[in-house]
Amino acid sequence: MLAIIGGSGLTRLSTLAVAHREVVRTPYGDPSSTLLFGEVAGVEVVFLARHGHGHTIPPHRVNYRANVWALKQRGATGILAVASVGGIRDCSPGDLVLPDQLIDYTAGREATYFDGGEGKVVHVDFTQPYDPGLRAKCLAAAAAARLPLRDGGVYGAVNGPRLETAAEVARMEGDGATLVGMTGMPEAVLARELDLPYAVICVVVNHAAGRGDSAQAISLAGIAQVLEAGMSHVRTLLDHIAPAW
Ligand code: HPA
Repeated sequence: MLAIIGGSGLTRLSTLAVAHREVVRTPYGDPSSTLLFGEVAGVEVVFLARHGHGHTIPPHRVNYRANVWALKQRGATGILAVASVGGIRDCSPGDLVLPDQLIDYTAGREATYFDGGEGKVVHVDFTQPYDPGLRAKCLAAAAAARLPLRDGGVYGAVNGPRLETAAEVARMEGDGATLVGMTGMPEAVLARELDLPYAVICVVVNHAAGRGDSAQAISLAGIAQVLEAGMSHVRTLLDHIAPAW
């Protein structure tokens, strides 16, 4: 069963015919929201709202460990995440991007299940942070839906909740980041630790700080508008991806 983690702008999935909801408790605390089980395009999926159903949990307070654990425990065999991001390079507001790499700039988050209680030290391979099989399904679905989904990008994960300075974005670009967002890590690595294929569809909702029309400031009103339009494309994409999983 495919799990969908919705971010800002996707706290509800209007195309989901909800069959039941479950409150799940985990050894790591409570997930962000109840899990919604139902069908998208006739196929069973489970949906979790990363910031809570009322969008009340900021990115640095999301209990990523509880979220990913709960999905695995309730039968997810893969996670497709949706996230809004700022565009640093090779993209513009309104674009959908499927990154193939990430750089982690976050700090102070609970970022592993292997915290020393296992009686041995555990390392996971993370060379390719996003699952190639799930990415391929996303690209095929986008082609079938005739929606442009950019293949490849480097997601720079930052703590937030503040946005970046122009100099921070310039540094990130120098590092190779093409997108910047606040929730991409540790979500991706936690899925890897639990052997869950994971990919993220990014909706570019603004030029990153200091770029394009964000040269002087980022317009938060502008973000809200682009988010709305972008997420309606994401819903269409999910209708095509769910049956392919
Ligand atoms: N920076 C960080 N996170 C974001 C941005 C941004 O510009 N836009 C949407 N999420």
